[in-house]
Amino acid sequence: MTTHKIAVIAGDGIGPEVISEGIRVLEKVAELDGGFKFEFTYFPWGCEFYKETGRMMDEDGIEKLKEFDAIFLGAVGAPGVPDHISLWDLLLIIRKSFDQYINLRPVKLLCGAPCPLKDVSVEDVNMTFVRENSEGEYAGSGSWLFKNKPNEVVIQDGVFSRKGCERVIRYAFELAKAEKKTLTSISKGNALNYSMVFWDQIFNEVSKDYPEVKTYSYLVDAASMFMIKDPKRFEIVVTSNLFGDILTDLGAAIAGGMGLAAGANLNPEREFPSMFEPIHGSAPDIAGKGIANPLATVWSASQMLDFFGHEDWGKKLITIIEEMLLEKKALPADLGGTAKTVEVGDEVLRKLETV
Ligand code: NAD
Ligand code: IPM
Ligand code: MN
Repeated sequence: MTTHKIAVIAGDGIGPEVISEGIRVLEKVAELDGGFKFEFTYFPWGCEFYKETGRMMDEDGIEKLKEFDAIFLGAVGAPGVPDHISLWDLLLIIRKSFDQYINLRPVKLLCGAPCPLKDVSVEDVNMTFVRENSEGEYAGSGSWLFKNKPNEVVIQDGVFSRKGCERVIRYAFELAKAEKKTLTSISKGNALNYSMVFWDQIFNEVSKDYPEVKTYSYLVDAASMFMIKDPKRFEIVVTSNLFGDILTDLGAAIAGGMGLAAGANLNPEREFPSMFEPIHGSAPDIAGKGIANPLATVWSASQMLDFFGHEDWGKKLITIIEEMLLEKKALPADLGGTAKTVEVGDEVLRKLETV
């Protein structure tokens, strides 16, 4: 029997609340399948760990994680720890160290999910964002000169390498080709006269290898307007780290909310573990109340199942989420219901049992 070894970093705030539902779901799937199992190893890393030890993870944390087939992460960030420390020393360092250069984020409106847009049907909101996840605006390079002096200057570099741009763009083209969909590149070459001109150039170069893929190219400001006014324009979308971060929260807003938005951080070569997580944060405003929506985490569990080749189960989980949205029997507060986090998880398990 195949064993998938998973490192669990539940993290902060609602992270542990949603991740435990994700784990129950994965365990149930494995039990029902009978052909594979999960072995979960829990790491107590995050802001509490930081307050006790001065570190967000063990010193050899990255070495420890290398042993696993995947990482399942809840959320990171808590009041009292500066966000740039908590996120850089845990989430971002994992993405970088494991060269998880693809951030795959579905923006898909399921039947029954709330959508704030007028006159829009589920077919109109069905995109996959391929966000560059290893460099760009989040390369972490820069300098802070003359700190605390009147002539203080900070520089935050955007790092766009040929290899970095080409591999994410090529990945997006392969996806568009396989799914017979259009591919839209989102950039900002009119103002970012080095990085985004380069991005556009590479997009055009790579497109020559994929004559069968219909392409579009938008400036990010116009793209954000079109996502609201005419979302059906977008099918597969490829964009930079920062733009992808912002546009996928916008995407979450039009596809049911943060409680339904999932993401996979992939190292496609599988040289290192990939990481699966809801895209929302630790939600300190609702943490500890047991009311967080675990469905984004269930959706990211579905992405993990796809990644391990269990696409039938991955699909099944999405169908179950959709059924729950339509039935409205066990929905959490952000989706207009009264079910607690655990009760939402219970309902997913119940539905799995009836497969
Ligand atoms: P957030 O995503 O935590 O919360 C934004 C809003 O969405 C809040 O009102 C919250 O209650 C709601 N929300 C989010 N997830 C929800 C869920 N599953 N169910 C119901 N409601 C949900 O974003 P924020 O408030 O900007 O950030 C809070 C902290 O999380 C910060 O420290 C930030 O740096 C961190 N953060 C971490 C991640 C991550 O770990 N992947 C992602 C984003 C933000
Ligand atoms: C996300 C988050 C992270 C990002 C933060 C917390 C560093 O917003 O996964 O979307 O910007 O990538
Ligand atoms: Mn984000």
